[in-house]
Amino acid sequence: MSISELDITAEELERAVRPAPPSMDRLRDDLGRLRQDIADGDHRGVERQRALGKRTARERLDLLLDEGSFVELDMLRRHRAQGLGMERQRPHTDGVVTGSGTIDGRRVFVYAQDFTIYGGSLGEAHALKIQKVMELALSTGAPFIGLNDSGGARIQEGVMSLNGYGGIFQRYVQASGVIPQISVVLGPCAGGAAYSTALADFTFMAGDTAQLYLTGPDVVEAVTGERVTHAELGGAQVHGSRSGVATFVHDDEEECLASVRDLLSMLPSNNLGRPPAAPPCGATTDLRPRLAEIVPAEQNKLYDMREVLAELVDDGEFLETHRNWAGNVICALARIDGEVVGVVANQPTVLAGVLDAKAAQKAARFVRFCDAFSIPLVTLVDVPGFLPGKDQEYEGVIRHGAKLLYAYCEATVPRISVIVRKAYGGAYIVMDSRSIGTDLSLAWPTNEVAVMGAEGAVNIIYRRQLAAAADPVTERAELLERYKRELIHPTYTAERGLVDDVIDPAETRMAIARGLAMLRDKRKHSAPRKHGNVPL
Ligand code: HXC
Repeated sequence: MSISELDITAEELERAVRPAPPSMDRLRDDLGRLRQDIADGDHRGVERQRALGKRTARERLDLLLDEGSFVELDMLRRHRAQGLGMERQRPHTDGVVTGSGTIDGRRVFVYAQDFTIYGGSLGEAHALKIQKVMELALSTGAPFIGLNDSGGARIQEGVMSLNGYGGIFQRYVQASGVIPQISVVLGPCAGGAAYSTALADFTFMAGDTAQLYLTGPDVVEAVTGERVTHAELGGAQVHGSRSGVATFVHDDEEECLASVRDLLSMLPSNNLGRPPAAPPCGATTDLRPRLAEIVPAEQNKLYDMREVLAELVDDGEFLETHRNWAGNVICALARIDGEVVGVVANQPTVLAGVLDAKAAQKAARFVRFCDAFSIPLVTLVDVPGFLPGKDQEYEGVIRHGAKLLYAYCEATVPRISVIVRKAYGGAYIVMDSRSIGTDLSLAWPTNEVAVMGAEGAVNIIYRRQLAAAADPVTERAELLERYKRELIHPTYTAERGLVDDVIDPAETRMAIARGLAMLRDKRKHSAPRKHGNVPL
């Protein structure tokens, strides 16, 4: 029988045999179930993550972001890799949760790697997802935060994994100085992933679970024969106190993610904005007599510069970067009269506060960050000089010292320096002296600015005279006295205009607050050029 013999048209017949399209409700339910399955993740993988004391990627984002603010992108993304059985293993998300949310109501873009999928390793799709949120962060002028928990480049995807990392590094560099970039290490962070931390502005590491290295212990043993544990090679303590890769180290994930939120509360969203200010709190008239008690007048007596800092900043609170690395210099974000400032200060309790190669690197990077993001600089100076010696010269103290010099010389944000006691030699120049462009230079009556301290100076310039003296002890005492009287008396530098005022220590907080107000509208002016050649 043909259709023409039936009492029905071809269209009617087709409609009768075609299955009814699924209803919108069913499609929505199916999608909802799929999303829930993806969000729940692989049960065994999640259990393993917990057994290691780690949270899932989504739990971490819940801790980091304002409640209910996360908008996920690319949840349904899967890799398209071929070979080594990859076709049969194509989990959604491809091992990284990406999107945007808010922190204290301000927008940020994020990724959180999911170790339960291919060990959080980075293949092509995984990389493209991260690159997408990086581009959105840059184009919308919002901070970018990466939560790392990854075995590095996905071995099965070969060159496409490496290419993916390259694309991420390229975007980190393009966004550098435009938006704050933060890397958080919450599990292994191996191979390519490690460079994402080095390129970011700040790197956080959490407790015993964070491990950061280019090559893991197995590779180290295979290549060098050296047996080393994950923690010894790249644990949080190693990077927080030896390598200086970690800017902040915390005991656990919760504390670590809370600290990321704290940091962001002091940063502008991008280089065109100002850091979020708190209301002024009367600092311009706030006398702090305790300052003179904290700092001994004798140049060589120790005191803790953190105590000075606590007197100068609002509520005595400051957020220190690299707290346990290069402790001879303190770098911290704080507020003075509500305004965010970056403080760089010599710390007499560590190596007597000298500058060395590590301290110079630490402070240089901090100064550059502050300058890029319109954070005024306050420098507290009590420095005996650069650390002399073979080790330092071999470590490249000249090269690293030049980084700090370069960073200050180029900084166009408001700059205020306070010479608390000694400021000798090259270290005086480097610590934001008038000669390299500080805007307001203040000094305490205890200031001693000179090529070197009296002892060293007298020994050099009067060597012959002392050798020939009948009574070298009395002669030396007289020469020391003369040197101090004529060359390093309290107003010596101010008389030459290199210090704008010698102030009572108790007035330091108010003088800085007034200085910040005076400099608030400082305009940026730099000569046009492609870029300078920072001594990297
Ligand atoms: C694919 C990976 C992987 C990787 C781990 N996995 N790393 N899959 N590519 N790079 C998978 C494992 O096969 C395993 O899958 C799951 O993740 C969990 O891994 P385990 O080894 O069981 O976990 P654990 O014992 O906790 O050890 C984690 C680890 C270790 C320390 C990260 O996996 C490791 O050493 N991975 C290699 C690290 C590394 O050398 N990466 C460098 C890549 S080179 P199953 O299915 O068994 O659960 C690189 C170059 C970039 O990144 C250079 C840019 C400059």
